[in-house]
Amino acid sequence: MIQDAIAKALNDHVSVETSSAIAYLSMASWAEIQGLSGFAAHFKTEATGELNHMQQFITYLNNRDYQATFNAMPAPRSEWDSVEEVVAHAYEMEIELTTQINNLVAKAREHNDYFTEAFLNGFIPQQITDQAEAEELLKRVRMAKDGQGLLIIDQHLGAKG
Ligand SMILES: [Fe+2]
Repeated sequence: MIQDAIAKALNDHVSVETSSAIAYLSMASWAEIQGLSGFAAHFKTEATGELNHMQQFITYLNNRDYQATFNAMPAPRSEWDSVEEVVAHAYEMEIELTTQINNLVAKAREHNDYFTEAFLNGFIPQQITDQAEAEELLKRVRMAKDGQGLLIIDQHLGAKG
């Protein structure tokens, strides 16, 4: 039986991943309206990734005989003043997700829950990649400076799908 403190922390993380997915979908919707379909496609891909993580946490909890539930989630932000601002928001969100995963590993260790630690270890490489990619995109957007540069990045993101 999974320890209650661990189960509750993992269950809270289900809502963290879900909130991140919804936030990315809100960013995608914003980008579509700006005419940036490449950025929109990128944010949608990220949203799918977070939903996939959420599902893995639910499956793990269910496998440990714990019913995963969702917390109330606030509406995501929907307004940004620039592409740099929306991309910076995405980067901050990835940093927060990395911190959360790190805290969960610490909690699993604290409670000598090696199964949960092994489960969480599976997320670390992907989370490091997600954070690094978000940082790279922010750097590239800052480099672009003008509309033409942003359109090149948009095209690149659109081609990646
Ligand atoms: Fe995630």
